[in-house]
Amino acid sequence: MVDLQSVRLTNSALVHRQPLVAVFTGGTSGIGEYTIRGLAAHHGKTGKGLRVYIVGRNEEAANKIISDCLKICPTEEFIFLKASDLSLLREVDRVCEKIRQLEEVKAGESARIDLMVMSHADLWFGERRETEEGLDKTMSFLFYSRMRFITKLLPLLRASTLPAHVVSIYGAGLEKGLPNWQPNNLSLRGDDKTYSKSACRTHVIVMTTFYFERLAQQNAGKVSLTHEYPGLVMTPAFVNPSHPWWFRLIWTIVSPVIHFFRPVIPAEETGKRVLFLCGERFPPRSKTQAKEYATTADGLAIATSTDGVRGNGAYSEWHTGETNDVDETYIPLRRDGFGDKIWKHTNEAFDAIERGERFTG
Ligand SMILES: NC(=O)c1ccc[n+]([C@@H]2O[C@H](COP(=O)([O-])OP(=O)(O)OC[C@H]3O[C@@H](n4cnc5c(N)ncnc54)[C@H](OP(=O)(O)O)[C@@H]3O)[C@@H](O)[C@H]2O)c1
Repeated sequence: MVDLQSVRLTNSALVHRQPLVAVFTGGTSGIGEYTIRGLAAHHGKTGKGLRVYIVGRNEEAANKIISDCLKICPTEEFIFLKASDLSLLREVDRVCEKIRQLEEVKAGESARIDLMVMSHADLWFGERRETEEGLDKTMSFLFYSRMRFITKLLPLLRASTLPAHVVSIYGAGLEKGLPNWQPNNLSLRGDDKTYSKSACRTHVIVMTTFYFERLAQQNAGKVSLTHEYPGLVMTPAFVNPSHPWWFRLIWTIVSPVIHFFRPVIPAEETGKRVLFLCGERFPPRSKTQAKEYATTADGLAIATSTDGVRGNGAYSEWHTGETNDVDETYIPLRRDGFGDKIWKHTNEAFDAIERGERFTG
């Protein structure tokens, strides 16, 4: 486990090195919100500057977060961007275009994004929900829409001198054994027997790993990408009144005692640990492939990427700050060419939806 003192040192270095432009999708609640609050707390009045774009639906929640953050860092900029439904790629495109325009107006030639944390999703227990664009809604929140954010914002991410860090919060490391992996059905089409929460999780994690690896390769020296499993964090996700009755009942009984059975990660710690993933321990892939350094300035080991190479730009992290050892899981998938297949599948989905078609692949 990376201790909290090291996390604090990394985060403090991050906010004191240069002004930061940050985007949080799903920043109006839960883990995204805790990370924004953590960023503001580390920055305080002594950081080098912040411009934070908060993307979500709940304007009231966003205003409360912004007013709290301004009390801690009164001269910094926090901007709410209202989104209607981020499971739709055309809505993702609209938000990205808005960010691009705002950055151009605010920063001109220095328009950029230094860090982007994506945590938008809903907790869903039912059958497959197909969006009007032809994607499974859960998979879209967790994979397609997040990859679309990165793709559309790549010019701004590549303009960062930090260099840029992208973090996706979901289930890194939970794909071991590939439960319910369906190699010929990446979109998980079919009936209730085909679709399950576990299949969805495996597909999202595997597809994220391969897509991140490709982006890391194409954006060497520019963009680092990390997928994190945050552990159990008590967020509003669990107390949504639209959850099925059985889940609400179980949660009411179990939540007061759940910490006896498994660790519950406090909100403040979660925010700090997510921010830590934007530090030097997770560098973009080196252009030369020759890593002459093995530790950060703080003495932390450079993380090993999902392809088994240290500092190769695409990371799978547990909430403790430890890297998941996922090498073995991917051996058969690499052998069967899933890196190419997933890249092609995802970009075909993007192209079809951009043309206004319903994706059927
Ligand atoms: N909490 C945990 O213990 C835990 C454990 C493992 C993994 N995770 C993962 O961590 C991520 C964040 O979870 P969380 O617990 O922080 O959830 P949360 O508190 O419910 O926050 C979810 C965020 O997503 C946004 N969102 C939901 N539906 C949306 C939609 N249709 N369009 C746009 N934005 C939408 C929400 O915006 P509004 O509030 O503005 O509507 C909110 O900002 C998820 O990917 C989850 O799977 C969480």
